[in-house]
Amino acid sequence: MSENTTAKSLAEITPKPEKPLFITTPIYYVNGDPHVGHLYTSLLADSYTRFARLREIPMFFLSGIDEHGQKVGQSAAEKNIEPKAWCDIMNDNFLKFFENVSICPDRFIRTTDKDHEEAVFAVWNKLKANDDIYKGKYEGWYCLSDEAFVPELNVQDVTDPVTGKVTKMTIDSNRPVEWLVEENYMFRLSKYQQPLLDWIDANPTCIVPEFRRNEIYNFVKSGLNDISVSRKSVKWGIPVPDDPSHTIYVWIDALANYITAAGYPGDIVHLDEQHQICQSKTKITGLSVTKPVWPADIQIVGKDIIKFHAIYWPAFLLALNLPVYKKLVVHGWWTKDRMKISKSAGNQFEIPDELKIIGGPFAVDAFRYILLKESNISIDCDYSLNVVKSIVNADLADQYGNLLLRCTAAAINPAQIVPVPPPSVLDAKYHNLVEVPAEAPANSPLTLEDLKLIAKINSTAALVDAAMWELDTQAAIGAICSLNSVTNGYVQTNEPWKLAKQLKDKPDNAEIQTKLSTILYLMIEAVRVASTLLLPFMPSAAAYSLDRLAIPAENRTVQHCHFGVAQPGTKIDGKRDPLFPKILETEAAPKAQPAKPKPAKGGKNASEEDKQAALDQSFAMCKFQMIKLTDCKKHPDADKLIVCTAHLSETETSTLVTGLIPHYQPEDLEGRVVCSVVNLKPKKMMGIEGHVMLLAATDKVSGKCILLQPPEGSQIGDRIYPTGFTLAEGWKEGDVATAQKATTQEAAEVPKGRFEKVVNGFKVETELPKFYGKPLVTSRGPIKIEGICDGSEFH
Ligand code: MSP
Repeated sequence: MSENTTAKSLAEITPKPEKPLFITTPIYYVNGDPHVGHLYTSLLADSYTRFARLREIPMFFLSGIDEHGQKVGQSAAEKNIEPKAWCDIMNDNFLKFFENVSICPDRFIRTTDKDHEEAVFAVWNKLKANDDIYKGKYEGWYCLSDEAFVPELNVQDVTDPVTGKVTKMTIDSNRPVEWLVEENYMFRLSKYQQPLLDWIDANPTCIVPEFRRNEIYNFVKSGLNDISVSRKSVKWGIPVPDDPSHTIYVWIDALANYITAAGYPGDIVHLDEQHQICQSKTKITGLSVTKPVWPADIQIVGKDIIKFHAIYWPAFLLALNLPVYKKLVVHGWWTKDRMKISKSAGNQFEIPDELKIIGGPFAVDAFRYILLKESNISIDCDYSLNVVKSIVNADLADQYGNLLLRCTAAAINPAQIVPVPPPSVLDAKYHNLVEVPAEAPANSPLTLEDLKLIAKINSTAALVDAAMWELDTQAAIGAICSLNSVTNGYVQTNEPWKLAKQLKDKPDNAEIQTKLSTILYLMIEAVRVASTLLLPFMPSAAAYSLDRLAIPAENRTVQHCHFGVAQPGTKIDGKRDPLFPKILETEAAPKAQPAKPKPAKGGKNASEEDKQAALDQSFAMCKFQMIKLTDCKKHPDADKLIVCTAHLSETETSTLVTGLIPHYQPEDLEGRVVCSVVNLKPKKMMGIEGHVMLLAATDKVSGKCILLQPPEGSQIGDRIYPTGFTLAEGWKEGDVATAQKATTQEAAEVPKGRFEKVVNGFKVETELPKFYGKPLVTSRGPIKIEGICDGSEFH
């Protein structure tokens, strides 16, 4: 009988591809400094590359910068610098940024590179020679931020609520457009409508996720117009061959970078010194190839540039008689307050500040891990301090970091070696065991618990492997977390520290010795496999853990991710410093060192008591209550925002601005009594100030967002509090009469940091929203959140 019938061992892992893989990111505009959006696209490619190399598959990873075009030209002009000099500065900024976050492309291409210019000329000449390019005139809208020609249908009037000024915006990205009349060269995109449909039809996974492929298919089916491919008024770019009064459109120029790197128009590329590569101490050498082979296997892009990559780029490639890439992976956005993080939205945050909040020696690794674990390419992900804290504290400090400390700690492992278990534990039959037998084998030192952990160790790599080929970093990291959590459970159940203590008293007791060395060996094996599989996501921290366990470099591959590899008797390094200090419940101030634990007082840990008191105090400062919503309508300037009147009492109203679209529409909220917090510091969202925030939860699997469900009969003003919480002096739980009264500590305006501290304690458990494990209630009963899985966060 097996508990684990679908588990796979390494023997059944995906076969290696025949040729080296070629992966690309978009090339980044250099009109501003790199931000988290750029980082995310690159991290997906970097972690994929690192994973492939962990599987000993040769890879070429291409990234770079998009230097030409009106937008970059304008940025340089604003700084009073020549465009090329500006791009040189920005090139250095991007390279440094990549190095700091351990992103290591094999080539970091610039569109001002000589070989790229030659490739673009060749592309143009070939399209022209095929009569795919002809001279025409463009009269229409142009969006400078997107460097895109925008059809009339996609332009809308947007009124500024403050000034009343009306601006024309593109509905694609909600950015301003300008009217353009220009003589242009045009590309015969219309001619490629049927070939594009045929290509999509014949390649079911050419664009993923599937819903994006369907969107593109329907768009192409509805008809394609020819597109402009030159700009007359733009000087910063590559001139049209034989007609230098025109500049080649920045998107043709940019898209060609992918084939430049593969040697277009020739068929050989030498990666010599003139091509930049990133220098980083975590760069994996040995498995890079110097020449990527076209077609690219994976091209990663954000959803905002899908049209260019899923329609224009394949059409250009078909026109050039080149094969189309194998797979386009389209990811969603990182948002802040549910709006895309971008320079123009002004909601960027400084990555160095985030790293300071995380603190410790491996803050970069933790940040990479957070972005890759929290995101799912199919949806947008909202960035918050809450997410950062919960991942660092739970996954990294409590689970992974703690496990490393435990298996190397002198208190459990006084010999400071990989322990020597009985020989039968090292039997090769356990290397592939993924199915747990009903009973432990007779006459074996291994218990059923041991076998369960061995099976988990042996089956994790295949799960990570399957997820990574789909670029599902969330599932890949989830599989490693699951191994860590099973290992932690195993350690809790077996309490090796007790055995170590018993052994200290009775050093000759062979039975205890066997038990302890077996348990410790299993723990080390679990941490070794987890660390190896974490290398793509946290290259420095995971390598450091493997160093501590003295695992040789040649054993750090996916092939070694099974039980029985660590060499018994090897000396290990039992340092006590934590890999990831916890982010404390104080304001998220930058920290250098983890705080020292406080001494225990009166039999109870004083820091725990203080912590609870601090949490209760933070909660009491916030006014959580029921409100009623009326006049709900869409924000005039932001598609995703809803504006409502919030009734706080029979006489008091306020304004709510919420980013609940697409989960809720204005009509879904009209007249509803909902859970909220009403005394936060007001915040302006697209020109309208919001004073109230709704409480909702986002399902961590499906990404759907649901409002907390008030108890039956809830009334405006009902207070919300965690069970067992003292609301005010003389307050008794469930007392309706005093439940409406304010708490003694309630603040007039709660600052953001204070509120985030409270939010950090919110989690869904068994369909109940809880604050540090205590269900939220009103005097009328419990608040519910049905249909949201356990562990999801509410906010
Ligand atoms: N230069 C073009 C791409 C040319 S490729 C031939 C460009 N550059 S960009 O700098 O604006 O964006 C590059 C990538 O960053 C895109 O994939 C985009 O989706 C991604 N991101 C920018 N902001 C983002 C978020 N807030 N979240 C996630 N990724 C987003 O477009």
